[in-house]
Amino acid sequence: MSSFDVAIIGSGPGGYVAAIRSAQLGFKTAIIEKYPTLGGTCLNVGCIPSKALLDSSHHYHDAIHHFKEHGIDLPGEVKINLEQMISRKQAVVDQTCSGVKFLMDKNKITVFEGVGSFKDATHINILKNDGATETIEAKYVIIATGSKPSSLPFIEIDKERIITSTEALKLKEVPKHLVIIGGGVIGLELGQVYLRLGAQVSVVEFLDRILPGMDGAQSKEMTKVLKKQGMKFYTGHKVKSVSRKADEVLIQADDSKGNTVDFKADYCLVAVGRKPYTEGLNLQAAGVKVSERGQVEVNAHLQTNISNIYAIGDVVKGAMLAHKAEEEGVFVAETLAGQKPHIDYNLIPGVVYTWPEVASVGKTEEQLKEAGVAYKSGQFPMRALGRSRASMDTDGFVKILSDANTDEVLGVHMVGARVADLIAEAVTAMEFRASAEDISRMSHAHPTYAEAVKEAALAATENRALHV
Ligand code: FAD
Ligand code: NAI
Repeated sequence: MSSFDVAIIGSGPGGYVAAIRSAQLGFKTAIIEKYPTLGGTCLNVGCIPSKALLDSSHHYHDAIHHFKEHGIDLPGEVKINLEQMISRKQAVVDQTCSGVKFLMDKNKITVFEGVGSFKDATHINILKNDGATETIEAKYVIIATGSKPSSLPFIEIDKERIITSTEALKLKEVPKHLVIIGGGVIGLELGQVYLRLGAQVSVVEFLDRILPGMDGAQSKEMTKVLKKQGMKFYTGHKVKSVSRKADEVLIQADDSKGNTVDFKADYCLVAVGRKPYTEGLNLQAAGVKVSERGQVEVNAHLQTNISNIYAIGDVVKGAMLAHKAEEEGVFVAETLAGQKPHIDYNLIPGVVYTWPEVASVGKTEEQLKEAGVAYKSGQFPMRALGRSRASMDTDGFVKILSDANTDEVLGVHMVGARVADLIAEAVTAMEFRASAEDISRMSHAHPTYAEAVKEAALAATENRALHV
């Protein structure tokens, strides 16, 4: 029987990063993945393919709506080749996944292809795709089995017309009318892809605003901007049935007054969140506890109730984000090596890759109000930047919330061009506990979108933004 210091179940961003860091620290490391390609949800059916389609559809949208104004006349009609768009996306995915295999080989990590399940706390059975089984021994085990799409109890996902994000990444036609249940991150990102490609897109959201976890100002701005782009929103609507007749899907929801609203669509994307995935792991054999929400229970060291078994990423509590999973992978490997790593969960940024992009870190205004924290707010509109006017990306703002007494930055919330990248400045500043004044006194290159960060910091410090 092969024996390892560390065995990791699941090769998503949590698992494969944990494997690399474990190997770097001198552990004999194995990773077990049930699918033939490594990289998990993020690389195969999540972050990477969705961004590839967002980029392709953005080019198409620009060609139709913005090229003329830029003085670029196209010789003929601009058409979509969806098959090519999907196959380019797949090529990006394949290349990225094989990059993970390369990293496993480079770091001398043993890769097992098959379903991993606990025999006991230190032995894992691997059921391979050809039906053979192998058992390995491991001193430490890291559970990194990720998550799967959630649904509603009365919805039957048929994967053809009533679909999750996984199917929405490989449709064979552009929907005529795509109804999306859930105005969260997946709903807006994939909704924008198909909106740009010509679909009518209706988002049905249970709560009273889209992106409910983000700052209220971001929800408001994105509602305005996406409505302008043609997306339709039905907030405060409770979906009560979804049924399919031939190629048509009927969705029924109750609005806030209790009236039934009918939607007819050719595709319905269910995007109401994701749930931790532990099926097939046989956790009972190892005695690992799972919470009522299905998450593997862990302490502050990401250790389960069984001392040699740890868990990371989407399968445990916290934000379901690739970079959070990666941080946790490094954290556990370093903990096992006797180091004292640290993760500041307050400083894990959240990004929505629509255009304009949406990015956040720290506390929202709603959270500060609820906690009774005295704060100052400085906001600067993107339309006041020369850079934004040059690229015609004038929607959005940067908003900085700082402590009313100490001026420490408590939260930064942005909507605009390339804010997915700009948020890194806010994370750095907050990691070093910068004040709004610190940011306002740093030179920001002109003309850049980043100038909005400086201006918002000026506005938060003494209400003295320069360009509004
Ligand atoms: P996963 O990536 O889910 O990987 C778990 C792996 O474990 C899978 O490969 C699975 O097959 C394997 N596995 C499960 N059980 C077993 C078993 N018993 N034996 C062997 N293998 C097993 N996050 C971002 O930060 N940015 C984004 O832009 C972003 N975009 C997204 C877009 C979409 C459409 C979706 C669905 C998600 C997106 N996410 C994004 C979320 C991100 O994909 C997840 O947070 C991330 O993948 C979690 O990583 P993980 O390692 O915990 O689990
Ligand atoms: P989400 O939690 O972002 O959004 C789900 C939405 O559905 C919420 O607005 C919620 O209020 C709504 N909802 C819940 N029940 C409903 C109901 N019965 N009827 C109508 N609406 C309902 O989850 P989503 O978009 O499915 O994404 C899953 C996970 O994947 C998220 O945790 C997210 O972090 C991650 N992800 C991250 C991305 C990124 O970082 N850019 C991109 C895509 C996904």
